[in-house]
Amino acid sequence: MALRTIVTVPDPVLKKKAKTVTKFDDKLQQLVDDMVETMRQAPGVGLAAPQVGILERVIVVEYAEDEEDEEAEPRLYVVINPQITRTSADTEIAPEGCLSIPGLQGDVERKLAITVKGQNRHGQPLTLRLKDWTARIFQHEIDHLNGVLFTDLATKIWKPTEPVEDNV
Ligand code: NI
Repeated sequence: MALRTIVTVPDPVLKKKAKTVTKFDDKLQQLVDDMVETMRQAPGVGLAAPQVGILERVIVVEYAEDEEDEEAEPRLYVVINPQITRTSADTEIAPEGCLSIPGLQGDVERKLAITVKGQNRHGQPLTLRLKDWTARIFQHEIDHLNGVLFTDLATKIWKPTEPVEDNV
């Protein structure tokens, strides 16, 4: 495993659409391992391949949804070719930060619950039903695969005075 460099705005790679993964080979396994290590080291709770300069549809997310329970283990998700297939009608506006946009935070409206279909790192199909902050992180990461940044969607953007937690 190796740390990869997280690219930041205005790198043009962040505005491009990533390609569908068709080969679940050793190179993909290495990319996934490197992305997990890079996300943890950042630290962040989500990372999309374009954020390490790779235009492929790969995301990793690691988050413990139950904020009330400090003992709750974060769950690691690796999703290849993720697609949102269902969304709740309900939305929520909340602040987001992005590892590729240091020093900014913005209010973004997201669906409260989503269903994501995709493949695991070995190419097997998977379906995830996600809600709350985990659903938000997935929407942010899948946007990265389409060249969309939170600053494209935010209703309000500001420079936080405290370090932003849970960057994605
Ligand atoms: Ni981001």
